[in-house]
Amino acid sequence: MANELKIRVNEQVRTVTAAPDTPLLYVLSNELNLQGPRFGCGLGQCGSCSVLVNGVEMRSCQTRVSAVEGKSVTTLEGLPAWYAAQKKLAQAPALHPMQQALIDEQAVQCGYCYNGMIVKASELLSKTPQPTEAQIRSAMNGHLCRCGTYPRILKAVQRASQMMKGVAK
Ligand code: FES
Ligand code: FES
Repeated sequence: MANELKIRVNEQVRTVTAAPDTPLLYVLSNELNLQGPRFGCGLGQCGSCSVLVNGVEMRSCQTRVSAVEGKSVTTLEGLPAWYAAQKKLAQAPALHPMQQALIDEQAVQCGYCYNGMIVKASELLSKTPQPTEAQIRSAMNGHLCRCGTYPRILKAVQRASQMMKGVAK
C-alpha cells in the first residue's frame, strides 16, 4: 500500500507517495524526476543506480525507499553542493571535480555507467583525498562499464584528486 513518506534528497525534504518497499531508484526517477541514477541491472551488480546515503554509496535499485527516511540522499544532481558543503566553500561549483575530470580526460563513451562511477569516486575522494592506484581500483571494482573505459576512469579519479588538493576545508 502506498504511503506518504518524507525523504531528504539533495538537501531538500521531499514528500513522496510510495509503498515502503519501493526501490529508492524508482522514487528518484519516477516521482522526483532525477535522471542521474540509472536503471542498469536492477540487481545491485552494476552500480549505475548508485547514490550517496549519508555520504556512503548505495545501490538505489536495492534500497527500499523507507530505509532512507531520516537520512540524507545525494544524487548526481546534488554532488556539487554536497562537495561545497564538505569543503566549506561559499558557493557550489557547477560540477564536482570528478565530473570535471571525466570531461578533461574525455573518459566518457556511451555514458551509461557514469552516474555510478562519479558517485563512487566522490565517496572515495571524500574519505581518501589522495588515493593510491590500488585504492582507486579497489573502490571502483564493483562498478561495471560495458564500454571498457576503466583506464580512463582511473586517470580521471587521479586528476580529480589533484584538482581537490588545496581546496579549502
Ligand atoms: S541498477 Fe542498481 S546496481 Fe545495477
Ligand atoms: S561508458 Fe558506456 S557503460 Fe561505461
